[in-house]
Amino acid sequence: MQISDSSSRILAGLLEARTGQQLTMSRRWRIEPALSSLLRERGITSLDELITILVMGKEPSLSQQVVEALLNNETYFFRDRAPFDLLSRYALPELARRRAEARRIRIWSAGCSTGQEIYSLAMLFAEDPEAWRGWTIDLLGTDVSTHCIDRARAGTYSQFEVQRGLGINQMIKWFEESGDGWRAVETLRKPVRFQVHNLLEPPPHPGGFDIVLCRNVMLYLSPEKRAVAFERLASAMAEDGWLMLGAGETVIGQTTKLGSDIKARGLYRLTGDGSMIEKRSVERRAASGT
Ligand SMILES: C[S@@+](CC[C@H](N)C(=O)[O-])C[C@H]1O[C@@H](n2cnc3c(N)ncnc32)[C@H](O)[C@@H]1O
Repeated sequence: MQISDSSSRILAGLLEARTGQQLTMSRRWRIEPALSSLLRERGITSLDELITILVMGKEPSLSQQVVEALLNNETYFFRDRAPFDLLSRYALPELARRRAEARRIRIWSAGCSTGQEIYSLAMLFAEDPEAWRGWTIDLLGTDVSTHCIDRARAGTYSQFEVQRGLGINQMIKWFEESGDGWRAVETLRKPVRFQVHNLLEPPPHPGGFDIVLCRNVMLYLSPEKRAVAFERLASAMAEDGWLMLGAGETVIGQTTKLGSDIKARGLYRLTGDGSMIEKRSVERRAASGT
């Protein structure tokens, strides 16, 4: 299947307008394989025919499907491992101490794809039930892709997916066979909620999250959209909260609102720039009526 330059520009423009994700020239080869099964399902014979339908604007659901098919949804359980060790060794014990009175922890996985990242966190809590007895653990996964969020909510994974990142013991302990696949057990699903959300929009609970994970999402955002996304992430964090990014991502040179946590390489904190922390205290006092 051939794609003309103008058609690939239109598709890349649609993706960027909806999600901020850029399909640079060197990544445009992805368009054809990404869209081939959607075209087959819809009985559309070429990418240029697809563009004609999109430009006529008669099928809004088709443009959403095209955007979702072009997104990179790569993920797996305990991806890169070390960040999860850092969370369980440093951030969670620290939160257990800091939040001992309220006994509530809120974590947001922004750009959660099909849910493996937030279920990995649910496993960290579930592996230590004594430590977290009596605590309210709220785990939120969001993604711009409706298809990903539907899959994440179902919590069901193929044999291949469930084995990626999990040892056999973890797999048997936290997943049960369901049809052709494996479904996360109730203990994992209970603390986790999923929601369709675009990172470029205001966050779900401003100032409310103790940890925000946004891993492997920023890489292909345009610089302007990345600045917006950092603003949104910073505004979601509690004043003493942390942000965690993917292995190849950093806040350095991208935003003044966030800086490295000197005690834990790989975690970022609010710097207080732009009165962010003061604003957060005012919001918290207003919410608690003090
Ligand atoms: C490569 S996956 C990373 C998944 C997971 N965070 C991980 O590291 O394994 C990137 C995810 O970000 C989502 N995404 C891309 N742009 C987004 C946006 N503007 N708002 C929310 N999610 C977005 C994609 O749909 C995709 O599921």
